[in-house]
Parts: sequence; C-alpha cells; structure tokens
Amino acid sequence: MDFVNAVLKRRMIRKFKPTPVPEESQNRILDLMQHYPSAGFSQGVAFIVVTDPIVQKRLKNSSRAYEAPLMIVPCVSEKLYHDRYRESDKLRPDGTEIDWPTPYWHFDVGCACMIIFLTAVNEGLASALAGAFRPDLLRKELGIPPDFHPVGIISIGYPDLERDTPSPSLKRGHRPRREVIHYNNW
Ligand SMILES: Cc1cc2nc3c(=O)[nH]c(=O)nc-3n(C[C@H](O)[C@H](O)[C@H](O)COP(=O)(O)O)c2cc1C
Repeated sequence: MDFVNAVLKRRMIRKFKPTPVPEESQNRILDLMQHYPSAGFSQGVAFIVVTDPIVQKRLKNSSRAYEAPLMIVPCVSEKLYHDRYRESDKLRPDGTEIDWPTPYWHFDVGCACMIIFLTAVNEGLASALAGAFRPDLLRKELGIPPDFHPVGIISIGYPDLERDTPSPSLKRGHRPRREVIHYNNW
C-alpha cells in the first residue's frame, strides 16, 4: 500500500474479526515498532505483546481494551529519559539536567504507537487504542515494573466493518486547515 493511502485509511476500528493475525504480519509490526524516533535515543518505550486469549480476557475485564486477536500494551519509562539526559553530552552548560518543557517520553511513545497503527493498515489490518484509565490494574495484571507506565492497549486484527460503529467524536470533523496551519507567523 502506498504511504498516502495508509495514512488516509487509518481509522480507530473497535470491532475485529476473530481471524488470527498472520505471523508474518505480526512480525512486521514488531520489527517496525522499535523504529520510532527517540529523544537522545533514550528508547524508553517497551511493549507487551498479548496473544494468549486468557490474558486478553483478563485485560478486557480490567480495562476498556477492544477484543482482538492481537493486543499490544505500550509502556514508557520517564526514568530512562532522566538517566539519559543526565549523561554529559545532554547536560546544560551549567551541568544540570534540562527542565523538560515537553515530556519527551510521551512524545516518543506516541511516535511508536503511530508506527503500529500504520503498519497494521499496511498489512490489511486495523487497530484501536483504548486508554489505560487504571494503569495500576494493568501493571498488576501484566507484571509491569514500577518505573514503566502503560499508556493504553492497542487492539489489532482484521476490521469487522459490519459491526464497527465509528466514534461519535468523528462528527466533529477535521478542524479547518486555516485554523491549524499557520504560515510564517501564527
Ligand atoms: C491518546 C488517544 C486515546 C484514545 N482513547 C480512546 C479510547 O479510550 N476509546 C476509544 O474508543 N477511542 C480512543 N481514541 C480514538 C479517538 O477517538 C480517535 O482517534 C478520533 O476520534 C479520530 O478518529 P480516527 O482515529 O478513526 O481518525 C483515542 C485516541 C488517542 C490518540
């Protein structure tokens, strides 16, 4: 699939067919998802790949994850960014750590998720992110260490478009270009 089509075709799909994700497609997602840009190459993102139906069921019960044959839980460690930015090449001239006007760990995990979403489309699959509203439960369920934060559950599978109902939020439509793109000056 060409890149423009992959971007335009990506939608959050919340209903999936039970058809398993082919191993080659799963492997391509796992191979590519580590290629996200990362501040200082800190690489603070870790992924829990959940294929066991028993674990998936438990996940569904403890979160709002959508039922799908493949689930990925992206987690991020803020600590790894502080560790990296305390290395000599990242310290400010006065020897102190930057004060993080933007939390790059959130930026990085978003980039990693986008690779997963687009790779899924490229494989003829679809995906949906359910936010982790009870990260404490997910942490317990999946044995996530204390310094990693689970950001959500990505469900992946073949879209079941007959059962899927697009989010009501989509009625908002895209904001007009002139509102979001500013040339040379806001
Ligand atoms: C950070 C984030 C969290 C989201 N959480 C949820 C969620 O918990 N449940 C849900 O149904 N959709 C969730 N969405 C999907 C958005 O509603 C969706 O991306 C938006 O309506 C635009 O639709 P589209 O992605 O299909 O283009 C989330 C999206 C993002 C980026």
